[in-house]
Amino acid sequence: MKLQLALDDITMEKAVDLVENVQEFIDVIEIGTPMVIEYGMEPVRIMKKRFPNKEILADLKIMDAGFYEAKEALEAGADYITVLGVTDNLTIKGCVEAAKEYHAKVVVDMICVDNLPSRIRKMEELGVDFVSVHVGVDQQAAGRTPLDDLKIMSECVTCAKVSVAGGINVESIPSYKAYNPDIVIVGSGITHAKDSKEAAKAIHQAIKE
Ligand code: 5RP
Ligand code: MG
Repeated sequence: MKLQLALDDITMEKAVDLVENVQEFIDVIEIGTPMVIEYGMEPVRIMKKRFPNKEILADLKIMDAGFYEAKEALEAGADYITVLGVTDNLTIKGCVEAAKEYHAKVVVDMICVDNLPSRIRKMEELGVDFVSVHVGVDQQAAGRTPLDDLKIMSECVTCAKVSVAGGINVESIPSYKAYNPDIVIVGSGITHAKDSKEAAKAIHQAIKE
């Protein structure tokens, strides 16, 4: 099980300092969607150069122009790109083709997907690498967690790997670990923690032990 740190509402400078500080505890550096909106692909290039031993995920949440948009991040050095599961199969296919060309991986963010089992089947048929359970920030504010969907996903996935995101923190990590996802994604649980290094260390210990 890997730990992916999502860098969302944070400046480029603070993001680099934070990764410097917690790098021993994380496996994947996520350039979060708000960072992509603010800085484009620059953080992908910077993090790849600064932390060459870490994997980089660009959380593009692609909805259209799959091949073209995926390529932007892949050329910048991303190891993973994300596309939305609610979009058209042609867009997913475009991302899969682009990722193959760059020997990278496609993560399908299943946020707002209604029928998880049938969409997971389709995603696997299209050859994606990961399906990702995600309860977004706005849904989190309404009290939702990704736990129920993770249970469903872990029961019906066959060949894709699984990641999970949505408000996971030091306290809740054991409930997620129980479903054995391949990647646990933590953003605010580390970036907004009183002590980010301690939080990253505790989550790392919880998933690796
Ligand atoms: C929001 C995202 C976040 O990166 C993801 O939800 C992880 O952050 P947090 O742990 O704070 O929920 O993609 O759309
Ligand atoms: Mg994200």
